[in-house]
Amino acid sequence: MSQHLIAPSLLSADFANLARDIEMLNNSEADWFHLDVMDGVFVPNISFGMPVIKAIGKLARKPLDTHLMIVQPERYFEAFRDLGVHTLSIHYEAVTHLNRAVNQIKELGMRASVVLNPHTPIAMLTDIIKEVDMILIMSVNPGFGGQKFIEGTYDRLRQLKKLIIETGSQALIEVDGGVSLENAPLLTAAGADVLVAGNTVFSSANPAETIEKLKHSGN
Ligand code: DX5
Ligand code: ZN
Repeated sequence: MSQHLIAPSLLSADFANLARDIEMLNNSEADWFHLDVMDGVFVPNISFGMPVIKAIGKLARKPLDTHLMIVQPERYFEAFRDLGVHTLSIHYEAVTHLNRAVNQIKELGMRASVVLNPHTPIAMLTDIIKEVDMILIMSVNPGFGGQKFIEGTYDRLRQLKKLIIETGSQALIEVDGGVSLENAPLLTAAGADVLVAGNTVFSSANPAETIEKLKHSGN
């Protein structure tokens, strides 16, 4: 039986009814809240920042899985810790001193995760894999919800799973972008431990039921 986790992305929630959508997630089989922070520099879009995460944190009863798509993310590690963030994901492509950044996140008491854009080779993780709690594999180019899933992701997940097993790393594998009811069982079979889903959940007629289906897919 598959033990994978589901992390719905609030980027696709109804921001005018955020409290309602958060309550739906609280009462659903969702495991984490996935929060996408974009700065309009690292990615060509701006989403939301600290005040919104603070408001979400007051209502959310599940861990905050925060995905930073911003340059120089280390400027804000403490601020995200103070907001109660559980797992902080930083992009490999946005950080010069990755080892230092990962250690800072862990020293602040958060779980540290490194994200790879679709074009960044899995081999770039070789020297950080044993230090991190999670690797987030982008299955779209980051910046927007509702994009088309990149098929090459399956092979990348298998490569990463192999690296984790070979090195004895404890890292979870999260996949983000274009996750659907159709590809979810294939993604978990390829090694994904956590599925992020925005559009698939929030554009469905019954989001809680869609989360349940994602949670039990592949069983
Ligand atoms: C994209 C974000 C994703 C996004 C996923 O840059 O990192 O988390 O919200 O949305 P869907 O599931 O709609 O592709
Ligand atoms: Zn994300």
